[in-house]
Amino acid sequence: MPSILIKYYLLDARQGARCQGLYGLSGVILIISYNLFMDSLKLLESLEEKLKTHPDDLGTAKSIAKFYQKLNPAINHATNYFIKMYQDKNRNLFYKELAQKNTQNKDVMEIGTGLGLIAYYILQTKPSYFMTCELNRHSFLKAEEFFKTNNLLDKLVLLNKSSFEIFYPEDTEKKFDFIIHELFASNPFAEGFLPIIMNAKRLLKTQGKFLPGIFKLKAIPVNYINHQFDGVKNELKQLNLDCYNNYYENQLISLDQNIEITTKANSITVFEIDLNSDFKLNDQFILKKDTLAGFDGLIVYFQAIEGDMILSNYNDEDSNYICDHWGSSIFVLNNKHLKNIEFQYDRTKLEIKPL
Ligand SMILES: C[S@@+](CC[C@H](N)C(=O)[O-])C[C@H]1O[C@@H](n2cnc3c(N)ncnc32)[C@H](O)[C@@H]1O
Repeated sequence: MPSILIKYYLLDARQGARCQGLYGLSGVILIISYNLFMDSLKLLESLEEKLKTHPDDLGTAKSIAKFYQKLNPAINHATNYFIKMYQDKNRNLFYKELAQKNTQNKDVMEIGTGLGLIAYYILQTKPSYFMTCELNRHSFLKAEEFFKTNNLLDKLVLLNKSSFEIFYPEDTEKKFDFIIHELFASNPFAEGFLPIIMNAKRLLKTQGKFLPGIFKLKAIPVNYINHQFDGVKNELKQLNLDCYNNYYENQLISLDQNIEITTKANSITVFEIDLNSDFKLNDQFILKKDTLAGFDGLIVYFQAIEGDMILSNYNDEDSNYICDHWGSSIFVLNNKHLKNIEFQYDRTKLEIKPL
């Protein structure tokens, strides 16, 4: 989120300057905008700190909600990943088993109803109380229709709200034993699951838990052959296209079927975040270049873990549910000029770069 705000301010200031030729003014706007951004970020952070010790302070929770309303205005259109996600059997199986093992006779909340499938798995286990929320009006209406046509609407509380806007005791008389979430994007931090979960802690009972509870970001050094340019190289045989070989250097690209992995090292845990602890909203990890000597790239993937169940977007042999709809990624190293690699996450993104 900070980076999105900074980018927005920078772009705005730069565009203004280009139109009017006022580069000096652009600098001033930039400084003011940056200061405003830092002030609002500091304010948000101080509210978040306060909420940790005063989870029932409605004023604080509502101020944070207002902040997020501005930042993430509610959307009202179909999202293109849903159909693919619903056909991802392993994702579905993970959440079905997660519900079966935990939610019977419990007070349960879900963040992000989507079209209602995980909610359906939870309802099947007969929770004592079940609330689910969806901020996208388009999905919310579809979920409502789904529950209605399947005679389930009276078995749950369905709200067209963001989790930031759900307040105890105004919206829910009960706090929850479990809050179930599935808010990972292909860049796992992009949907902002960390700030969402940190904020929702106020809705858990003292012994309450987020499920799944552990998030890991992992990397595997590999050698690979990139066949992505084979088509164009065949078509333009008369030309020397070697210059394209390092086109993706120092970038995270999707690990599609045209990338053939030839050798793999052991996996490295880059970040391990216990969502049921007081975790950090940003962190950094440096992968030493010695670990990377002789390798062309790093497969970067995530695992969401609960007990012995692992949901992942890459098969590293110890993951039981490999989900293809997210896809996994590979960071392309420059193995001639090897450098330490810095991993950094914040509220809404992961950055990987050589140092
Ligand atoms: C990956 S989908 C989850 C799909 C859903 N569990 C299902 O099986 O259909 C994530 C959903 O969470 C919603 N969402 C994201 N952040 C949210 C928040 N803070 N509060 C409520 N919904 C949220 C998104 O609009 C999206 O529909």
